[in-house]
Amino acid sequence: MILVTGGLGYIGSHTVVEMVEKNEELIILDNLSNSKLQVLDKIHSITEKRPAFYQGDIRDPDILEKIFSNHAVEAVIHFAGLKAVGESVNKPIYYYDNNITGTLEVLKVMKKYGCKKMVFSSSATVYGNNPQVPFREDYDLSTTNPYGASKRMIEDILRDVYTADPEWSITLLRYFNPIGAHKSGLIGEDPNDIPNNLLPYVSKVATGELDCLCVFGDDYKTLDGTGVRDYIHVVDLARGHLKALDYVRNNAGAEAINLGTGNGYSVLQVVKAYEKASERSVNYKITSRRPGDIASCYACVEKANRLLDWHAKYDLNQMCEDAWRFAYNENEKK
Ligand code: NAD
Ligand code: UD1
Repeated sequence: MILVTGGLGYIGSHTVVEMVEKNEELIILDNLSNSKLQVLDKIHSITEKRPAFYQGDIRDPDILEKIFSNHAVEAVIHFAGLKAVGESVNKPIYYYDNNITGTLEVLKVMKKYGCKKMVFSSSATVYGNNPQVPFREDYDLSTTNPYGASKRMIEDILRDVYTADPEWSITLLRYFNPIGAHKSGLIGEDPNDIPNNLLPYVSKVATGELDCLCVFGDDYKTLDGTGVRDYIHVVDLARGHLKALDYVRNNAGAEAINLGTGNGYSVLQVVKAYEKASERSVNYKITSRRPGDIASCYACVEKANRLLDWHAKYDLNQMCEDAWRFAYNENEKK
């Protein structure tokens, strides 16, 4: 039995679908702070199965105790966490408490029950302002905000846990920029507030909910001057978790592994691909750089290929087509 924390969120829900389709038995724990219970119905519609669900907080030892005493948990896929960079700057205590205290509570109950396998959601944000692309797992880490710092600290905690007890098996998956949605158009990413990230913003310009995209700078040293990122289809990312689960089942250690495509695309390339996929125009204007942004960020994926036997399969056009299908469906409902 696998415990999936944060399993109703954007990446978690796509991973749960892939797991159910591979007949993995799982339990979801989510406090719905950034997701909706209806996602469980959507997972049911897609897979014809309804995973066990506990509504609760990873910081609550009682609910963790209840789960571990009721189920033989073999491994934890740990998505639960807060992820908005700007918000983390304004609410550092809330972020550190949720992400770090929450992870410590999960680790305590795992240790108590002898469950020593974890797949953890880290982020490319731990590479900080490193100018040398592609990013390799052995680069020095640095972070510029509490969200990033919480990921880096959790990575350190997990490496220490392994050092103290080499029976542990942990993967620290460093995601690059997940976008897109399940091909059913039923699950995807739909932030309630005005989005900070590129793809959700572009989607809302294409549906007409927002007027115009601000492209943050066109004077970077990149092919067209706009920022370059490694966008990865969320379903590819989800499948990476199944491979990571296989890996922790068979290897002890605490391994950081990048999950990206290894290719970078500029903001204007994304806009173009989205226009093609949606057959709508995406209005944009060039504005000043966003503080803290770097020119280029993409992954070296050799380690994921080698250790996990995992390769991203979907290209940018597919990512935009799937993102558009979901955005269109959601907008129709409003
Ligand atoms: P998300 O917000 O959609 O999903 C996180 C889920 O965790 C939500 O359903 C939320 O309700 C739940 N949650 C949060 N705090 C909780 C708590 N204390 N107890 C129980 N449940 C809690 O985010 P996502 O995009 O699916 O990201 C999943 C993980 O991957 C996060 O840890 C995030 O930091 C990390 N990550 C995301 C990205 C990205 O761009 N989406 C990039 C790198 C890393
Ligand atoms: C974001 C997160 C980062 C996380 C990463 C992967 C922020 C500030 N950083 O970074 O912590 O690890 O996602 O999920 O949220 N852009 C525009 N206009 C917009 C929005 C974005 O031009 O309205 C540009 C940005 O300048 C950047 C690119 O689009 O060049 C991608 O931006 P975004 O989606 O926010 O991702 P990251 O900056 O990579």
